[in-house]
Amino acid sequence: MTGSLLITRIGELVTNAPPEGAAGRTRGAGWFAAIDNAAVIIEGDRIAWTGLASQAPPADEVVDAGGRAVLPGFVDSHAHLVFAGERSAEFAARMAGKPYEAGGIRSTVAATRAATDAELRAGLNRLTGELLRQGTTTFECKSGYGLTVADEARSVALAAEVTEEVTYLGAHVVPAEYAGDPAGYVGLVCGPMLDACAPYSRWVDVFCEKGAFAADEARAVLTAGLSRGLAPRVHASQLGYGPGIQLAVELGAASADHCTFLNDADVDALASSATVATLLPGAEFSTRQPYPDARRLLDAGATVALATDCNPGTSYTTSIPFCIALAVRDMHMTTEEALWSATAGGARALRRSDVGYLAPGAKADLIVLDAPSHAHLAYRPGVPLLHAVYKSGRPL
Ligand code: NIG
Ligand code: FE
Repeated sequence: MTGSLLITRIGELVTNAPPEGAAGRTRGAGWFAAIDNAAVIIEGDRIAWTGLASQAPPADEVVDAGGRAVLPGFVDSHAHLVFAGERSAEFAARMAGKPYEAGGIRSTVAATRAATDAELRAGLNRLTGELLRQGTTTFECKSGYGLTVADEARSVALAAEVTEEVTYLGAHVVPAEYAGDPAGYVGLVCGPMLDACAPYSRWVDVFCEKGAFAADEARAVLTAGLSRGLAPRVHASQLGYGPGIQLAVELGAASADHCTFLNDADVDALASSATVATLLPGAEFSTRQPYPDARRLLDAGATVALATDCNPGTSYTTSIPFCIALAVRDMHMTTEEALWSATAGGARALRRSDVGYLAPGAKADLIVLDAPSHAHLAYRPGVPLLHAVYKSGRPL
């Protein structure tokens, strides 16, 4: 049995812990909460105690945080990590004025199909290493660059090697060989491909967008997934106004992701449902689109998560600190809102009640910043501030 570990002399301990009596609240702006001059005790893989350093009970081992901030590990609820190749030329062309189109996905599909399992696994492990070193202790991982039964199945199987949060995204785009028969491709996604992928997946996702899948196709994919026990999440309104957000809410999706183009009905639907609005500012940064209107969502009472959308086309970053900096500087989120959204918000988007906060019983996933407060994540953009990362109670 592992002994207890006390981390003390914490300048700011972000707990996100709900106040007494608030248990059961599952949506809304959430509870950013922090304790100054704090300490935390870890037993095994769980948090056993949090409070003022001056009141900490004794423990077997002691770590002096030296006034640094301690935060819950980041929860990245949206990432595409199984792929081969890269698209820096497409990025460079965009920066020179060419617009982003969903069809770019197909060039990554060709590279992914041509890659060996070992090549895909090596790329996946490289990215998961980057995530962890930047403080992400829980992450979701989608398929979506295989788009054949065999290539989607190996994508979700590889994803399941690195996370429990595996998402089947066979409906990422219609592959070239089905260009003349999109209905045939939707049939494949809802039939044999789903059969092959469901055993490895917790979630089903669809890119509901002009150039990808229309509302009726997206509904067919999500309901087929639901019938196999996969819970829905939706890529919605990234490139223009569309039906994806309403569909996500209608089907009780855990999350509607992107939400870059919002009308009043979309905001109302998100604010009056448990569907989380997951914002992905790395995608707007890399496609030079306007950022989503986080303030409108927050002020209406929607639950907001922040995630990287790490993928080779629109957001090739694994850095939640970078996304927090964008959210604060360019989306007008407060530092507290951004931090909450990248931890507890991500946990809501993945329907996880064990991560995203630090209180007795929570998983001991936490990060120590080489800075006195969480605000430094946005205040010192681009600076590697991670002093230590603990995953399941153990330092990396
Ligand atoms: O989330 N929107 C769809 N999927 C990715 C883009 C994928 C690509 O361009 O390769 C996204 O932005
Ligand atoms: Fe995405």
